[in-house]
Amino acid sequence: MKTGIIGYGSMGRMMLWKFSEAGNVSRQDLYVSNRTPDKVQEAIGIAQITTNTELAQNADMIFVCVRPVDLKHVIEEIADTVSQDALVVSLNGSVSFDSMHKVIDCRMAKVIPSLTAEIGRSQTLVCFDEGVEQDKKDALTELLKCIGDVIELPEDEMGMGSELVSCMPGFIASIFDVICNSAEGHTDIPRDMIVKMVLSTISATGDLMLSKDMTFDEVVTRVATKGGITEEGTRVVYEGFPKTADLLFEKTLEKRRLTTERAEKIFSGQ
Ligand SMILES: NC(=O)c1ccc[n+]([C@@H]2O[C@H](COP(=O)([O-])OP(=O)(O)OC[C@H]3O[C@@H](n4cnc5c(N)ncnc54)[C@H](OP(=O)(O)O)[C@@H]3O)[C@@H](O)[C@H]2O)c1
Repeated sequence: MKTGIIGYGSMGRMMLWKFSEAGNVSRQDLYVSNRTPDKVQEAIGIAQITTNTELAQNADMIFVCVRPVDLKHVIEEIADTVSQDALVVSLNGSVSFDSMHKVIDCRMAKVIPSLTAEIGRSQTLVCFDEGVEQDKKDALTELLKCIGDVIELPEDEMGMGSELVSCMPGFIASIFDVICNSAEGHTDIPRDMIVKMVLSTISATGDLMLSKDMTFDEVVTRVATKGGITEEGTRVVYEGFPKTADLLFEKTLEKRRLTTERAEKIFSGQ
């Protein structure tokens, strides 16, 4: 499958190198273009460096990894050259298929990877426009498996989905940063040891729950014996944290709504 990546920034670079490392796409079949060509020279050994239009002529699957402000320009630029059979994959969740269709007439998908793709453990979201054939869906899903699990959602659930997998590493990091800061005030154990102990325990708890199919409630019950020390702590969390969690989703979903509105305006040239 000839695969092209337009935009060699944070996401485009990560995907290009992961596809190459996984051996999913050979050097001859992997194309990359970037607005600033100098930046992409480091990829000479693993991909063919080209222009947006040449890439669109050649690739069967085209990942558009640019910011919303640049998306319309790129889509307009490739609209006449992209092959009728190609799948254009936008990494931007904010601009709808309907808006993109006003500029380009082709099969489309959207993909949202998460930071954990760096270690091959992304929960990558994918949604397909109407009319994308099953073989194309399978080909994209198969390609993305080299960065982790692939989860298909309808377009209108991509927002909340993104909160749960793409934003979540940031939410988790900030929550446990607060916990480590607080712990530091109650002990002489050095900060770096506290962080390592907590991180390893978060990671192991997640793996334990997934591998043993355990619920949160089961973990809490196993650790927090009646009248014990852990129960004292979990009570504080269940009493105090729901308000913060509700506020977090209210604020982020509202911000997402405004971001989508702004991206759609930029895209439609308003
Ligand atoms: N970062 C994340 O964690 C994340 C997660 C999920 C989805 N996304 C989405 O992925 C998309 C890309 O994000 P990013 O973080 O990778 O952005 P980024 O680091 O700013 O990279 C964007 C790249 O696009 C290039 N570009 C801009 N206009 C272009 C054009 N006309 N032709 C070719 N290349 C062009 C830029 O080139 P220059 O070198 O000239 O600047 C830059 O290398 C965004 O829509 C974002 O919402 C990001």
